[in-house]
Amino acid sequence: MFSGRTIPMSIKMRDFGVTSSGEKVSLYKLTNSIGAYVKILDYGGIIQTVAVPDKNGNLTDVCLGYDNVISYEKYDGYLGAVIGRFANRIKNGTFDLNGKTYNLAINDRPNHLHGGIKGFDKYIWASEIVDNNLLRLSHCSPDGDEGYPGKLNVTVEYRFDNDNNLSIHYAAQSDADTVVNLTNHLYVNLNGHGNGTILNNKLKINADYFTEIDKNCLSTGIITKVDNTPFDFRVEKRIDRDILKDNTQLKYGSGYDHNYILGSTGVMKEIAELTSEKSGIRMTTISTMPCVQLYTGNYLSDFIGKGSKLYARQCGLCLETQLYPMECRNIFSPVLAAGAIYDHKTIYHFDNTYTNLPLK
Ligand code: BGC
Repeated sequence: MFSGRTIPMSIKMRDFGVTSSGEKVSLYKLTNSIGAYVKILDYGGIIQTVAVPDKNGNLTDVCLGYDNVISYEKYDGYLGAVIGRFANRIKNGTFDLNGKTYNLAINDRPNHLHGGIKGFDKYIWASEIVDNNLLRLSHCSPDGDEGYPGKLNVTVEYRFDNDNNLSIHYAAQSDADTVVNLTNHLYVNLNGHGNGTILNNKLKINADYFTEIDKNCLSTGIITKVDNTPFDFRVEKRIDRDILKDNTQLKYGSGYDHNYILGSTGVMKEIAELTSEKSGIRMTTISTMPCVQLYTGNYLSDFIGKGSKLYARQCGLCLETQLYPMECRNIFSPVLAAGAIYDHKTIYHFDNTYTNLPLK
């Protein structure tokens, strides 16, 4: 029970077991002064727990995850992980840069997905507790990693403050021109993880446009207005209001698995708001990134998650802030020039002040 008392902010580290190849994994618990906390692994930079107060002041863990490294290694789904070098799918795993064609690892036939066979989600990152609420993770991706050009140094900083802001600061620099698009694959269920599906959570996304996908969930680069489609979340609605509508795009994604375009890059703006009537918890997503992938966990299948809870299809959803999909490169360049700094920030803000309004 959240008591309303205040305690000192802290970051504490403990062992989280070993990978199948014997590497030691550490877990960092970032606790704020009201006792809410997030847990982060140096393996994949994974957000493993997000425990925030619900409408009754009880701490509720809204983040899907596992209790051991082996499950993170074994199951796909990228639960809570940092995604890099390039979030989302790249058609046939190829792109041209400076007159040269690069061929990336194919891990989602016929395309490249989320950084390839061994993306950033599968590495142990160097970690540093910077102060009592800032954890810094770093990783160096060598030239040619999964087919990408340039040696890329990446840092991801996690901060969890007293207003329940979980902020993620991404920075990267390459020694050669390359492409970069980093995100985090946090799955949330604001009813509490393991408490059924997210279909009764309500969502608002401040986007007028989304990008269409093909039958392999690859963004085609075709940008469509959300008006009069099931993709219109500009006014808050339950996830299940339109998800079963007869719509080719929903069929291709087996639900929502689409990139929404918010527009401005580099300025912090409100992207989305997710709420649960059951818990009273609201998650507001704020980011410098121009797009967000809404993925309603359509390919999650039955497995055992944290605390032996049963996870199933659509039991969590992701709001993955990111750049435009590669197929939109004619309108937004994903190129990071040699020596330039990639610098983006996303904040997931949690509060429990949400009041139940009649459903739309
Ligand atoms: C993608 C899904 C994919 C999932 C993998 C999401 O970001 O949009 O298509 O299946 O990641 O877990």
